Amino acid sequence: MRRPLVAGNWKMNLNLASARDLVAAICSGVDQAAIKDRVEVAVCPPAIYLYPVADALRGSSVCLGAQNIFHERSGAFTGEISADMVAETGARYVILGHSERRHTIGHHEDDRMINLKVRAVRAAGLTPILCVGETLAERQSGQTLDVLTFQLTAGLVGVSVAHAADLVIAYEPVWAIGTGHNATPEQAQEAHAHLRANLRALIGRVADDVRILYGGSVKPDNAAELFRQRDVDGGLIGGASLKAESFLGIVRAALVKAT
Ligand code: PGA
Repeated sequence: MRRPLVAGNWKMNLNLASARDLVAAICSGVDQAAIKDRVEVAVCPPAIYLYPVADALRGSSVCLGAQNIFHERSGAFTGEISADMVAETGARYVILGHSERRHTIGHHEDDRMINLKVRAVRAAGLTPILCVGETLAERQSGQTLDVLTFQLTAGLVGVSVAHAADLVIAYEPVWAIGTGHNATPEQAQEAHAHLRANLRALIGRVADDVRILYGGSVKPDNAAELFRQRDVDGGLIGGASLKAESFLGIVRAALVKAT
């Protein structure tokens, strides 16, 4: 039985005061309701807020995640942070391969770079949330499943099957991120089932324990239908994670998975 995970990707939003307020509201919603044993919840603030958010999360069941790391352990890499530095904050997760890092920001991360980061995160004892997803052009030309196979396989090169059950994969179609156009539940299930079949080929039966999140315009009113799909094990939430009410609505929708 896979425990659903709902993770908030705050991207480059909020300030320190609003981050603290948001965490306080999320914690009281998650910890008081009969949610915390059934749904795992994480927040992924900008790196500069990892420590204050870790402080605000103390005593709560809500976990902490980072949005990125650099793959080297230390050295002359101005502006970067290592996986060990993130681990020191008490974080558990690191989002890697997000489409904004693949397609929008700076030098555009490729699959080789993302793989180095996945390995660095695991070496630091953290859990990667490896994001994969096709562009609109790739979907329209029928390449979706091939793109997913390639990104998943390339991202996991050299990752040992030992402890692979704690990997998290996020299917995030690029055309659905921040657009208000979510994948249909059927499109999501098709992609997730494909990813799980690929995972089985890579890591064996432990693939059945790996959580595969859907991300891309998840809102309280579409979350339950998406989460009801057999291979959708929760969500990676962008815009709707910035308000406690909408994020908690999505967390509650994940109760459809939890028996
Ligand atoms: P969105 O972002 O929920 O705002 O579409 C999802 C993501 O980028 O992880």
